[in-house]
Amino acid sequence: MDFFRGRRLRRSEPMRRMVRETELTKADLVQPYFVVQGKGGDFEKPIASMPGQSQLGLDALLKRVEGAHKRGLTSCILFGIPEEKDPEGSGAWKEDGVIQEAVRALKREFPELVVMTDVCLCEYTSHGHCGLVEGEAILNDPTVELLAKTALSHARAGADIVAPSDMMDGRVQAIRAALDGEGHADLPIVSYAVKYASSFYGPFREAAEGAPSFGDRRSHQMDPANRREALREAEADLLEGADAVMVKPAGAYLDVIRDLYENFAAPVAAYQVSGEYALIKAAAERGWLDERAVAHESLLAIRRAGAKMILSYFTEAMLDEI
Ligand code: PBG
Repeated sequence: MDFFRGRRLRRSEPMRRMVRETELTKADLVQPYFVVQGKGGDFEKPIASMPGQSQLGLDALLKRVEGAHKRGLTSCILFGIPEEKDPEGSGAWKEDGVIQEAVRALKREFPELVVMTDVCLCEYTSHGHCGLVEGEAILNDPTVELLAKTALSHARAGADIVAPSDMMDGRVQAIRAALDGEGHADLPIVSYAVKYASSFYGPFREAAEGAPSFGDRRSHQMDPANRREALREAEADLLEGADAVMVKPAGAYLDVIRDLYENFAAPVAAYQVSGEYALIKAAAERGWLDERAVAHESLLAIRRAGAKMILSYFTEAMLDEI
């Protein structure tokens, strides 16, 4: 016998399952939702570039989550579209802001659902940037203070996890201090530690109405060419108090997910972003791919690379598959 017979353990599904190294479960998946304020609770507007996803008024959100929760949804992350925007993004930390109200309603109806909030200003600023702007520059330190205020307002509303996605330096430390200072020492921070300046976010900017009105995000988000720098970003956030670190996008950055998994003991999260979703959806609409199978495989690959918590627009669809 002079060769390896890998086929021996692939002869039946039960046998394949016995040696399967990775499994995707419902508990791994987090569904993103886009919540709109000021258009009425029943408002629902499909997002053209993300078939199956919609901007939702509060009642429409609750209805949608109810259905998904029954099918095993364990977690969601919320993005808000406020009624009004201003240069500071003050809608982000309003007590009766879109996210704050949505969190309160979700936690009242579904106490066990893990509700995450995205902490950033870009959906709330009139210029669409993730922070305060001076000329063409995005100011770091003054923005960090506003992000801390925003995270604290989410905590007061009852969020289970806050997830800063802005990529300002030092924001995890500031958010941790603000939370601890008001009795939220137990509230976890999942930081978007390794967020690339990626073109895969295209459809999201339609969905969340947060496209920058000038310039781009390359002064704060990471260069897609860099891998080692991801370790510095993750290390910094963990030292500042992050409980888990996220890589975003996911599919094109599996090497980076693996690097974080191997170098840190903290859980690694990954975000399969809007463009990754749109690619699969578009090909499936043309009949070129089997949507469910490719979606599952893409998520399994992210899981295999080392991510445990996976944010994906396919979450709801996967609840019937896994
Ligand atoms: C910023 C934010 C973005 C995404 C999540 N949070 C957009 C950006 O940085 O431009 C992208 C998510 C996706 O593409 O699905 N608040």
